[in-house]
Amino acid sequence: MQVDRRKFIVSIGGTAAVAAMSHEDRAEALEHYMTEKLDGRLERGAAAQAPTEPRVPRGAGRLFAPTTAEWQTLPEKPTLIDIFERRFVSTRHVLQSATEAVRTGQPERTVFACLIHDVTQNLIKADHGYWGAQLFAPYVDERVSWGVRYHQALRFYPDEATGYEYPEMYDRIFGVGYVPDEYIKKDYEFARKHRHYMEARLITVNDQYAFDENKPEIKVEEFTDVIGRQFKQPREGLGLDNSSVAHMWRTIINPDKPL
Ligand SMILES: [Fe+2]
Ligand SMILES: [Fe+2]
Repeated sequence: MQVDRRKFIVSIGGTAAVAAMSHEDRAEALEHYMTEKLDGRLERGAAAQAPTEPRVPRGAGRLFAPTTAEWQTLPEKPTLIDIFERRFVSTRHVLQSATEAVRTGQPERTVFACLIHDVTQNLIKADHGYWGAQLFAPYVDERVSWGVRYHQALRFYPDEATGYEYPEMYDRIFGVGYVPDEYIKKDYEFARKHRHYMEARLITVNDQYAFDENKPEIKVEEFTDVIGRQFKQPREGLGLDNSSVAHMWRTIINPDKPL
């Protein structure tokens, strides 16, 4: 994907706003911009907002962006696919990412991890890897949620052995090398030595091939069997199974709930 440096900087509030951001915030802003550009949704997500106007905090999930649309109805016992189709937006990036994992013959759990690695940004963008790991943990192999958690820290660290290079785009857009927040650095160092390291690393590897505006549309149905094997769909429906994260799914199901 070509990112126009000037347009991107304007979209996040101009050079002064960028200068005031931490490296992690900039990294997030760049990734959100690319994900939303891929789905042609920039007018809602990273749209330019003058600093004096009220704004939607950048960490708010996509479901909490200003909207005039109604929520699509969901079945009584919603499945992951129902929610994927009717609540998750800007999914082209994760679908391309999972497709890349299939194309390169990676394990099915990695395909699934790629499919879900960023969808939590619909609920909340800030620290999406950590929220995402929690949202899925009760329903997936622990290696899947582990990978989702640590892909956030690994994104901006190279690993030549796996073909993952330091994202040159960060340098090009911001004109400086990435300096991570302390907790990101610590989590990277922890993950680097962990036996599950590759679970997270492969997510970042597939990530870099998943911002292609010229690839044809991919439907989540293509992953129905993968989801069936990798996601323990609760019989009661998501949000209704009394799991430790049911409330998070209920919020996704009904973002209009006032309390
Ligand atoms: Fe991510
Ligand atoms: Fe991603």
